[in-house]
Amino acid sequence: MRVARGAHAVRVLGIETSCDETSASVIEGAGDRVALRSLVILSQDAHQVFGGVVPEIASRIHLTSIVPVVERALADARLQAAELDAVAVTYAPGLVGALLVGVSYAKALAFAVERPLVPVHHLEAHLFATALEHPDAVPPFTALLVSGGHTMILDVAAWGEYDVLGVTRDDAAGEAFDKVAKLLGLPYPGGRHVEALAALGDPARRQFTRPMLRSNQQPDDADYFDVSFSGIKTAVRQTVERTGAMRADGEQLRADIARGFQDAVVETLVEKTLRALDARGRTRIVLGGGVACNRALASAMLRRASEAGATVYVPSPRLATDNAAMIARAGLFHLERGHTAGLDLAAYARRSLPGRAGGMTGTGKAGRVTSSG
Ligand code: KG4
Ligand code: ZN
Repeated sequence: MRVARGAHAVRVLGIETSCDETSASVIEGAGDRVALRSLVILSQDAHQVFGGVVPEIASRIHLTSIVPVVERALADARLQAAELDAVAVTYAPGLVGALLVGVSYAKALAFAVERPLVPVHHLEAHLFATALEHPDAVPPFTALLVSGGHTMILDVAAWGEYDVLGVTRDDAAGEAFDKVAKLLGLPYPGGRHVEALAALGDPARRQFTRPMLRSNQQPDDADYFDVSFSGIKTAVRQTVERTGAMRADGEQLRADIARGFQDAVVETLVEKTLRALDARGRTRIVLGGGVACNRALASAMLRRASEAGATVYVPSPRLATDNAAMIARAGLFHLERGHTAGLDLAAYARRSLPGRAGGMTGTGKAGRVTSSG
C-alpha cells in the first residue's frame, strides 16, 4: 500500500530485541493507513546448537547487531535518523537482558534526534502485524497469538481494547512443537521441521487426545477457551519410546507421530478460536506469532471459519514471527495517543497487556531456555 506523506503521516522507527531476533523497521502513515518502508530481521542462529535460546548469548548478539541493523533499516527506507518522527521499542515482555539492549539504544537515538520514545508491548504488537499486509485485519476481531513463548486467544474490540479469553495452562504452542521436534530428533526451532515431517504422515495411524476439548464444555467452564499442550507432549514421548520410532528405519513412524501431534494441536487451536469468535459475535480472525506460519493451522482455520461465515487473516512468515515492523506499527498507534515514555523507561520480563484489566502475560521464551525438556 502506498501512503502519501500527508499532513498527519508520520515516520516511526521500530526496534525489537525481546528474544532472539534483532530487528528494526521504518513505517510511515497515520491511523490504519500505514506503509512499510523497510524491515530488517537478523535471526540469531547461535542458539541452534543449544536447542533453545540462551539469554546471555542473545543479549551479546543484540549488542553487536543493533547498530548495523538499525542503520540498514534507515538506509533501506532512504532516511536519515533526523527524518524520523518517533522511535518505538519493545520494552516487555521478554528476556530482560535482550530487551535492555533495544531499550537503551532506542533511548539514546530518541534523545539524539530529539524525538519521542514510544514503549511497545510485544504481544500487543503481534496483533498489529497482520494489518501491515491486510488492510482489513483491523478490529473488531478474534485473535489467535501462537508463538514459542505465548499462546493466547483474544477478543479485540478496538485497538487498545484487549480481552484475553484463553491462554495456555502450560506450554506455549510453539514450545510444544519445539519439544516434539526434539523428541523426534529434529533441529531447533522445530515447528517447521515437524510440519514438513507431518506432511508425510498418515493421519489415521497415531492419534492423540485433544487437550481440553470436551463436547459438553460450556462457555462458563474455566477451560472453555484455555489450551494445554504438556500432556500431548508427554503422550508423544511415550509413543516414541514404546514404538521405537527413533530407530533408523522408524522414519514413517516418526512422520505418523508428527502428523498425529500436529492434527491434535491444530484442531484444539481452531476449535478454541472459533469458540471465541462465536462468543463475541465477530466475523474476522487474525493469526499471529511464529506458529501462524504453519500451513495446516492456517488451512484448518480457513475451512472452519468459512463454515462460520468468518474471514481469516494470516500474516506472511516474516510478519508472523518476531519483527520490528509490528513494533513500529503499534508504536504509531500509541504515538497518536500521546503514549510516550521518558528516558527512565525500563525493560520488564513480564508485563500485563495494555488495555485489559489485571493479569500478567508472557515471559517470552525465558521459561524454556537450554536444557528444558
Ligand atoms: O513468534 P516467534 O518467532 O518467536 C517467539 O516465540 O516469540 O515464534 C517462534 C516459534 C517457534 O517455537 C517455532 O518452532 C514456531 O514458532 N514455528 C512453527 C512453525 N514455524 C515456526 N510452529 C509450527 N509450524 C511452523 N511452520
Ligand atoms: Zn513474539
